[in-house]
Amino acid sequence: MTFSTRVPPTLQPNAVSRAVAALRAAGTSLIDLTESNPTRAGILYPPDLLSSLSDARGLSYRPDPLGLMETRTAVATDFARRAITLRPEQIALTASTSEAYSLLFKVLCDPGDEVLVPQPSYPLFEHLTRLDGVSSVPYLLEYHGRWSIDLPSVQRALTPRTRALLVVNPNNPTGHFVSAADLDALAAVCGPRGIAVISDEVFADYELAPASEPRGVLAYRDDVLGFTLGGLSKSIGLPQVKLGWIGVSGSRSDVRGALERLELACDTYLSVSTPVQLAAPELMRRGADVRRQIQQRVRRNLASCVDAASSSPACTVLHAEGGWYAVLRVPTLMAEEELMLRLLQEDAVLAHAGYFFDFPRESYLVLSLLPREETFAAGLTCILDRFRDVHA
Ligand SMILES: Cc1ncc(COP(=O)(O)O)c(C=O)c1O
Repeated sequence: MTFSTRVPPTLQPNAVSRAVAALRAAGTSLIDLTESNPTRAGILYPPDLLSSLSDARGLSYRPDPLGLMETRTAVATDFARRAITLRPEQIALTASTSEAYSLLFKVLCDPGDEVLVPQPSYPLFEHLTRLDGVSSVPYLLEYHGRWSIDLPSVQRALTPRTRALLVVNPNNPTGHFVSAADLDALAAVCGPRGIAVISDEVFADYELAPASEPRGVLAYRDDVLGFTLGGLSKSIGLPQVKLGWIGVSGSRSDVRGALERLELACDTYLSVSTPVQLAAPELMRRGADVRRQIQQRVRRNLASCVDAASSSPACTVLHAEGGWYAVLRVPTLMAEEELMLRLLQEDAVLAHAGYFFDFPRESYLVLSLLPREETFAAGLTCILDRFRDVHA
């Protein structure tokens, strides 16, 4: 049988996944510092949080491709919480941010077109682009005490087939927000060439440090077609509820053209359920408490990470401004994969290696800041202990 090249030719688990499966099968309980599912991280969700999903109005089906206006209004209010003004008419609802990407690739790209993606960043971009028949082309991020965009690498990555440029704001896993200066430069490159900018702001509520430079706001710009993505999966820690959104900004005619095309694509699938749309305003209101707990968790874990690493001079926690991750630079005593396997087999600690996110060189570990504080501290101690006797 011949399958599409949109899916990889081999789907075998890698050495780390095999080791995790073997340890779990043997009953070993792991300290999982890759956990990115908030519903498994000891966050207290009110037991009746989902009661608004049973609104009786959900018994009748009157689909609106871009979403119910009351829900789009609630999303506009949610943007306003972050001082972003978008009209409800500029918002399209999706089942998730991942689906938002897929819809945008469909309306912006032809098969074989290219989308510029940051490196290092979220590994799913490879699959998200490939599943829609487009190619992801990396541009580089650079660390110099804080992360910024290597703008010449954006220029080098451009081709006549470039249709969109993605920023993750704040980025997963580097935790930097896109600065106003970087966004100005990206808009100057993309706007005149008809390249859209997609800003994934799923982690925007999780500020870890005050801004060291003014931050860029895509939704305010009219010099480039912009799509600002968000969703309940991170904003109130409910990935299973399946609601995301796209805020469309830019010149009046670009916004109209994009919304008309998104409407057609959304109408083809109508994937956002009526109950979730009706429940969203109440979920967003009550979910604020879940968000506060997650904010507290990630800030505490980052603080304990910085504190613990300060007594391990060979290890450095890279500066993070937002998100759910810490990046730890460790001495290269072995390949990252071997380090991961040793951490698993000798300490029962699971952490992501930098190569998973396409860091340009070794050795980095990416630690989720979501686990309970005691779990996070225990795993971190095992990692740092390995480098205690290495001198910086
Ligand atoms: C940067 C980024 N965007 C999007 C997503 C997925 O969000 P959703 O659950 O809304 O598809 C994730 C999930 O971890 C993510 O890290």
